[in-house]
Amino acid sequence: MDGVKYRIAVQTDKPAIADLNTRAFGQPDEARIVTQLEEAGDVLIQFVAEMEDRIVGHILFYPLGVRGKLSAVGLGPMSVDPSTQRSGVGSQLVRIGLKTLQDSGAPIVFVLGHENFYPRFGFSVAAASEFETPVKGPHFMAVRMRHGPPMSGELIFPAAFGVN
Ligand SMILES: CC(C)(COP(=O)(O)OP(=O)(O)OC[C@H]1O[C@@H](n2cnc3c(N)ncnc32)[C@H](O)[C@@H]1OP(=O)(O)O)[C@@H](O)C(=O)NCCC(=O)NCCS
Repeated sequence: MDGVKYRIAVQTDKPAIADLNTRAFGQPDEARIVTQLEEAGDVLIQFVAEMEDRIVGHILFYPLGVRGKLSAVGLGPMSVDPSTQRSGVGSQLVRIGLKTLQDSGAPIVFVLGHENFYPRFGFSVAAASEFETPVKGPHFMAVRMRHGPPMSGELIFPAAFGVN
């Protein structure tokens, strides 16, 4: 979409990010998760999409513990302003995030999300299936960032998700 700038989120974006998440999800739960992740130091990196100085998209990545090893990554929450959805902003946020994580050496990224949206970026249920986690199902997917031997382990989510 023309006129959209993508950048790393900064401290002063917080109110706009909370407002965006609340409107996109139609409830405050995800905005609350973002705040809890930040307060607990459980945020790896966040990007925003900006149009005419207004934040219209947001994506958050968090460190996801694998017992015994570390450095897996989780994606979410993510949201796009309802008036801007389905014009490519969400896809661009996912691509920018994954590229940044790949460049930084992240081995694998997990997501709990729409099963028709994330596979286009390489996410699959199969890539997540060897991991022990309380959030299995068709919405729980992963994408390997590089080739290598099979990966497995028990996933330890940040407390903000309330799943472990
Ligand atoms: C899901 C979301 C982040 C996608 O962002 P976007 O900018 O609309 O996405 P793009 O324009 O890049 O891609 C569009 C694709 O997203 C998917 N999508 C968009 N809205 C969706 C929805 N409500 N439910 C399921 N899939 C959706 C569709 O697969 C769509 O493809 P299609 O147009 O070919 O059907 C955005 O719609 C959103 O914020 N939704 C509400 C909040 C939410 O559900 N976030 C969690 C994501 S797990």
